[in-house]
Amino acid sequence: MGGLSLSLAACGQAGYPQSPHNSDRNLLKIPQLLSGTKNGAYTEYNLKIQNGTSTFFEGRSTSTIGVNQAYLGPTLQMDVGSIVKINVNNTLQEDTTLHWHGFHVPAKYDGTPHQTITPGETWTAQFEVRQKPALFWYHSHAHKQAGPQVYRGLAGPIIVKDPNRLEPDLPNTYGVDDVPLIVQDRLFGNNGELVYLRSMHDIMMGMQGDTLLVNGVVDPVFESKTELLRLRLLNGSNARIYDFKFADRQTFLMIGSDGGHLETALEMSQLRLSPGERAEILVDMRYGQPRQLIAASTTNGMGMMDGAMMGDRWWRGNNRRDTDTSAFNVLLIVPNANLDSSPPVPTTFKKHAAIDPGSAVKMRQFVLRMGMGMRAENGFTINGRSMDMGRIDERVKLNTTEIWEVQNASWMPHPFHVHDVQFRILDRNGRPPAQHETGLKDTVLLAPRERVRLLLSFKDYADPDTPYMYHCHILEHEDAGMMGQFVVET
Ligand code: C2O
Ligand code: CU
Ligand code: CU
Repeated sequence: MGGLSLSLAACGQAGYPQSPHNSDRNLLKIPQLLSGTKNGAYTEYNLKIQNGTSTFFEGRSTSTIGVNQAYLGPTLQMDVGSIVKINVNNTLQEDTTLHWHGFHVPAKYDGTPHQTITPGETWTAQFEVRQKPALFWYHSHAHKQAGPQVYRGLAGPIIVKDPNRLEPDLPNTYGVDDVPLIVQDRLFGNNGELVYLRSMHDIMMGMQGDTLLVNGVVDPVFESKTELLRLRLLNGSNARIYDFKFADRQTFLMIGSDGGHLETALEMSQLRLSPGERAEILVDMRYGQPRQLIAASTTNGMGMMDGAMMGDRWWRGNNRRDTDTSAFNVLLIVPNANLDSSPPVPTTFKKHAAIDPGSAVKMRQFVLRMGMGMRAENGFTINGRSMDMGRIDERVKLNTTEIWEVQNASWMPHPFHVHDVQFRILDRNGRPPAQHETGLKDTVLLAPRERVRLLLSFKDYADPDTPYMYHCHILEHEDAGMMGQFVVET
């Protein structure tokens, strides 16, 4: 699917309803589905990381990076239990990597800064798909360059399906009633170029823009042909936290979190996702009215935090005026005149094996800090240290379960992400997590002063020399050093 063609007219999609909304809206782009090619024991995918030129606004072009296209990449569909082989060709003039966010893979195939792909090189990752069916994503994890590279477009979705359990109860026709939404804010200059890191402030708060792109489209519209629509939401933003909701205040069902289904469908009116987090929701279109999905956000994430968490005097005294609350349009969903019927809304799903917190053999603590007024390189730390590629911070024993207590000792929220595992949130400040956070997670948002305890099991893969990462998923914080490394060893 060549360059982006964003205007409705240019898309020329036949049969689009005569909706009053269609004149000034752009059709949602659906990332091409790449299911790979069977090659002996492998399912093989060929990815080419390339520079591109995209048109987000008519008449203005933007330099971007994409995978097999100008901006973002195809949706990789993978089967549980299959062995995938992904060839990643870097045609950029700079080093990069490709990381499979949320995946449980051997460390040498994880696509961290230790698996740099130099210009012109092809790197091959191969691993068995051991995830539960859910939405994951791939993105650049280049050393100190993840922020700028993802910002320019180096990311894409991964949908894991279980071929033996085809989810007959859930909408599952890709692009029709099963739609990934990659939500990213961007800042554009007048000439259409992406603006990145204007000042220290953009590193401190993380890079935030005033324009929302959804699958690379500004203010998109989608025609629903079915009664029930399954949206797979990915906050692929560098730093922004969103509260997703419908403008009509109607509820939706949340059915999945980062790494798999929830045990029961949850009726929700609002859902918060921080960078890196995903959620699957079901939207009922039977009322026959267009529905606008919106995302409320504040530039520093603070306005959305629990008041009790905001005791920090620095924030109250100096920063409140900086808080700018915006509500972005995410997706206008326009129902077709004749909706195809959908299966009844499912309410319960297969339970995931529970891990007993009592089986944890070790507890580790992680304290996230930002030094104010210091140089960025020194200010962003976990346990007082900035990321060092040559230092292993933690050594974990294979086939053990641990509790990680993560504490946010700074004045702004941070999404904490751990590679290699899907964890459970045991508690937040000693209280059990909200229901929608009881499922499988790989990224957890910590409000200022908050403390969460995570339960993690390390299995299958050990490699004493190749580390996995844990880090803040505000990419500017990650690049500035709020990241550490752990190895799993026998
Ligand atoms: Cu989504 Cu270490 O990253
Ligand atoms: Cu990751
Ligand atoms: Cu952070």
